Order: sequence, then C-alpha cells, then structure tokens
Amino acid sequence: MSSTGNPSSQGAIRRLERAQQEASENAAEFWGRAAQAIDWFTPPNVAFDDIEGWFPDGKLNTCHNCLDRHVAAGRGGSTALIYDSPVTKTIKRYSYSELLEQTGRVAAMLKNLGVAQGDRVVIYMPMVPETVFAMLACARLGVVHSVVFGGFSPLELAKRIDDATPKLVLTASCGIEGGRTIAYKPLVDEAIALTSHPVQNVVLLQREQVAATLNPYRDIDWMELRTRTIGDEIPPCAPVAATDPLYVLYTSGTTGLPKGVVRENGGNAVALAWSMENIYGIEVGDTFWAASDVGWVVGHSYIVYGPLLVGATTVLFEGKPVGTPDPGTFWRIIARHHVKSFFTAPTAIRAIRKEDPDGRLLGQIGTGRCQAIFLAGERADPDTIDWLEQNSGLPVIDHWWQTELGWPAIATCIGLGDRRRKRGSAGLAVPGYEFAILDDHGKPVAEGDSGNVVIRAPLAPGAFRTLWNNKAGYEKNFATFPGFYETGDAGYRDLDGFLHIMGRTDDIINVAGHRLSTGQMEQIVASQDGVAECAVIGADDPIKGMIPIAFVSARTGHDGDEALASRIVEAVRDELGPLAALKKVHVVPQLPKTRSGKILRNLLRKIVNSEPFEIPPTIEDTSVPAAIATLVEAKSAK
Ligand code: COA
Ligand code: AMP
Repeated sequence: MSSTGNPSSQGAIRRLERAQQEASENAAEFWGRAAQAIDWFTPPNVAFDDIEGWFPDGKLNTCHNCLDRHVAAGRGGSTALIYDSPVTKTIKRYSYSELLEQTGRVAAMLKNLGVAQGDRVVIYMPMVPETVFAMLACARLGVVHSVVFGGFSPLELAKRIDDATPKLVLTASCGIEGGRTIAYKPLVDEAIALTSHPVQNVVLLQREQVAATLNPYRDIDWMELRTRTIGDEIPPCAPVAATDPLYVLYTSGTTGLPKGVVRENGGNAVALAWSMENIYGIEVGDTFWAASDVGWVVGHSYIVYGPLLVGATTVLFEGKPVGTPDPGTFWRIIARHHVKSFFTAPTAIRAIRKEDPDGRLLGQIGTGRCQAIFLAGERADPDTIDWLEQNSGLPVIDHWWQTELGWPAIATCIGLGDRRRKRGSAGLAVPGYEFAILDDHGKPVAEGDSGNVVIRAPLAPGAFRTLWNNKAGYEKNFATFPGFYETGDAGYRDLDGFLHIMGRTDDIINVAGHRLSTGQMEQIVASQDGVAECAVIGADDPIKGMIPIAFVSARTGHDGDEALASRIVEAVRDELGPLAALKKVHVVPQLPKTRSGKILRNLLRKIVNSEPFEIPPTIEDTSVPAAIATLVEAKSAK
C-alpha cells in the first residue's frame, strides 16, 4: 500500500485495534474508564443511557477540570496559555494560577450583571486572552456560551443572538485582520438593531487600535466592570449535569439557517481529554497549538478546552499564516514555544507555500521540538502534504471531523503509537466511531466504492445530541439511514480500512477551511433586483480549496451586467460576511437546466474547473453549456 511515514509497530496496531474493538463492543466500559481522567463532583454510575446520553448521572464543571484542579494539584506555576500576537507584537504567558484568577474575575463580572447558570452569553471577540477567560468564565458559572466568528456579518450575528437569546454580548472594539483593523462595535450595534431578542448588556473590551463609543444605557466597559468587581469573590465552579450544555456553536446547515450545535459538558470533557493523549500524543506539561480561531469548533476543542483539560500549554495566535509578518510566522511560533503537536488547515499551508515555495523560511527556522503536524477542515491534497513533509521532515497527518462531532473521528492516533497514513486518506476510524459507506438506498457498498459516509449511532461522547431549539433538525441527521448518523460527506473505505473523504453530498462547501452553504448564498443572490435565476457553486481554488462562484441570468432591463455582478458581491458580503469570499459572478444569458427545470450545477462546476463535460440528454437547450464555457474562458483570460 502507498502508506507513508514510519510503519507502525505491531504493538501499536494491536493497541489501536483493541481500543477500536472495545469502544465498539463495550462502549460503556471503554468510556467509563476514559471518564476517570476527569474530576467529577458526582462520578457517573452509568456511562451511557439511550435517552439521557453520556454520563447522565454525573456532575462536573468544565472550568474546574481545565483550571482549578491543576492549581490544586500544585501545577499553578505551569504555563497554561501563551498569547502570541504578531499583529500587535505581543507575547503574554499565563500560568494556570493566573488563568484561574483572570477567568474568576470575568466570572465575577458576569455574576455582577446577573448572569446565572443556564443563561446564554454570546461572545463576538477576536483572538485575545479575554476571549478565553470569557469562555472559561461561562463554563465556571454553568452559563452556555456561543462564540460567533468575527468574519460573520451583523445579520448572521443577529440570527445567532435571536436563536441563543443571550443576556449579554461580549465583544471588543476591534479585530485585527492581517494589516487591517476591523471595528466590531458598529457590527454589534447593527446586529442588535436587527434582533427581536432584547440583549440586556454589551460588555466591550477597548483595544488600543480602535476606540469604540459606548451606549450609556446598554454598554459597559470591560475594564471598568472588572475594576468595579475586583473586590467580589471569585464565584465557585457550579456543579452541572454532564448532559448540561457547555456551549452552542452555530454552523452552516443545508437550509440556509445556522444550526446551533449543542456541546454537553461531560461527553466533551471525557472525549477531549482522551483525544489529547491518544490522538495528538499530548500530556500534562506539553505544548499544543491549534492555529485556528475560537469562532470555530477547532478553537473550542483544541485552543481552549482540550489542552487545558489535560494540563498542557495552549497557544492563542492572533495572526495569519502569511503577512503577519511573513510566511515563517507558524514555524517561528512552533519553535519559540516548543510546540509538540501542531494543528492547522491545509489552506494555511497552501498560502505559506505560495509565498515560500522552496520552504526557505521553514528550513531556516525549523520546527523545534514538534513531533507531528495535523491538518483538518477540508481534504488535505497529497501535493500539499508531500511539500510539508519534505520541508519539515515531520509526519503530516490528515484527520477528519465536523462541528457536530467536536473531535476527530478519522485520524492516525499517534498517541497510541500508530504511524500509518496514506496520502489522500484522512486515516483510520478513531476508537468510538464505527463508519459505514452506504449507497442512496442504505445498502453497504463494496470496499473501494464511493457512497455516503455514515457513522453508527449512538455517537461517541462529545458528539452533539441535539441542536439548540431544533430537535427535529437534529433528528434529520439520523433519518435517511436509520441507525446511522449521516455526515453529509461522500467517500470510500479502501481494503486497508483507510477512509477517503471526497466531498459533500449537500450544498456545503469549504472555503479556506470555513464551512459555508451555497444554498444560503443562492437565497441572497436570488433576492437581488435584476436576478431572474441563479446558482452558486464551489469552484476549485489553489489556495482556499474552494471558492463560491455565482451564475446569474438577469431580468430584462437590469442595470448592466457589471453593475449587477458588483451588487451581488456586495450583498453576499453584507448579508453573510466577508468570509463568504464570493468575488466572482458570471451573468449569463441562460442557466443550463433540465427539461424539468433543475439547474445543472455539476455541469457549471465542471465548466469553471475547466474539466471536460458531457451534455446530459435531459438538458433543455444543448447550446447553453458551450456558450457559458466561452464566456467563463473569456473572462478568466482577461
Ligand atoms: N474578523 C473579521 N473579518 C475576517 C475574519 C475575522 N475574524 N476572518 C476573516 N475575515 C475576513 C478577511 O479579512 C477577508 O476579508 P476581505 O475579503 O476584505 O479581504 C475575508 O474575511 C476572507 O477571509 P479569509 O477566508 O481568511 O481569506 P484571506 O485571504 O484573508 O486569508 C488564508 C486566506 C488561507 C490565509 C486564511 O483563510 C487562513 O488562514 N485560513 C485558515 C483557516 C482556518 O484556520 N480554519 C479553521 C479550520 S482548522
Ligand atoms: P466543520 O464542521 O466546519 O468542521 O466542517 C466539517 C466538514 O469539513 C466535513 O463534513 C468535511 O466535509 C470537511 N472536512 C473536515 N476535515 C476534512 C478532512 N480531513 N478531509 C476532507 N474533508 C474534511
């Protein structure tokens, strides 16, 4: 087989297989044992219940497990968090005791404002330490946080506020995007003006780059509030049920409305602690860095909760893979902070490679004590893995998961000693996850054949067990293939058991590691004046993996193709946010459709990717594809 890297020892393979077998045949015992890595106020007697879920009678507190218990164990002086921000030229270290103190202060601030267990707090903040304090402070109080990524528009923020109905919104005066500052306060004000839910207060962290104006009736200065509550006692960690929500994180669904994935305290703590050790090979005292954003699931699991649960050091990076200041920034941080395992998205590596094709900076700076680089968020193309392995000399491990699951389900578990991997595959099933590849009728396909990638229910601890305010939406994920969770991905399993993820079966695309719905973009495009019909498809992109491209047929009398195209680009940016990255709109005389009126999106995808295409016999007008291909070619030649 074309596996790369060191072959695994028979012992490691046996360890993985034993773990897979036990997690599948005796899940309660397997996860019950894993749960011993967590401090419980009331240890669970039952590991799993069909109705109640994981550890239903256990009580714990996630913040206690991330902070207090390490301090109590005498590790208060060890570094918990390193904030490295090349965009502000700042490096700050927080020991476990300091992080506990900072988190406690924010918990006291929240309590002072009347936030209590079970309430929600929306966090719309950049990659600064206060964001981590705020997440942990919510966990401490048993308050449910919902972090919204800064690249979302006010409208998207408003949708999340209306769904989560938070008492407070925590924000900062700005985010720093490469060389630019982005004022957040006007976005928050606009979002709140759009909501029907009344937000009691906005607590705002003023950053020196941008000063925000506060509304005296609603807004509170973070530092003033901190000073005002400095004499307040640090609230104790609230015991919460293992099945109580720790956070709600919204992700793109197929309906255009964001889905609020609910993460439960108990399953999350147990699964993340298990994954740190067994997948990433990280233990107490090691340094782990996930170069993601706290607005995404990777940030929740592997910037904040995972590393702290096991007493490791985590890195909070405020910057970009390139331009802050150069494509050597990742390697500098890995070397400077002795990162042992590093996690990023393939798109970031492609961006670095574009600017440093020979890996000159990587060669000069090196990767210090790093033992492995993990990639996820989109398919890691073999060429990118090859480049990175050659230039870093490290094993590069593709692994697969989703917001819904909260932690990897396909990986090479290096913590278990496994080293096997194949380029083009995301790896092997992680213990706790049993995969099947089914055809559209629910029948298993032969090994090597493509189909729907599904996971046997019930899902492992940590994976979602409901959607916020949307139990029916959650259940839909289990409706198409009874007994299985439908991942929405297509792929195959080869004869060696490696899983290959080839794309989505729905309208979701991954743009620079960000999950977006083309259906949602189509709704925005279709509602613009002058648009008769439209389709948004994901085209291949050498850096971002995919980018959305809109095809539009215009109504007669519209304001000109170019004006229409730029209005559409602006509308998608305004309504969804800059992260949508829809920059190209093709105004065409007609869209390719079947005689029954279905738009042939696959055909459009092939045309923009310059792939050969056949004209389907069901097409309404055979001349349309060639006309579009000519137009697209002419535009890209410009
Ligand atoms: N706040 C405000 N705006 C944001 C933002 C944030 N947190 N994040 C992104 N944006 C904006 C960007 O400034 C950009 O705006 P522009 O169109 O005005 O230039 C737009 O959203 C698109 O951003 P992005 O997709 O990040 O493109 P980019 O060209 O700025 O950077 C990469 C490209 C590849 C360097 C960058 O996307 C990257 O680092 N990706 C890795 C993603 C990742 O870690 N994903 C997590 C999964 S592990
Ligand atoms: P998100 O919920 O944002 O993490 O996105 C999850 C989706 O990203 C998955 O359903 C896949 O479509 C895609 N994805 C994540 N990791 C990988 C990977 N390693 N290989 C292929 N696709 C991936």
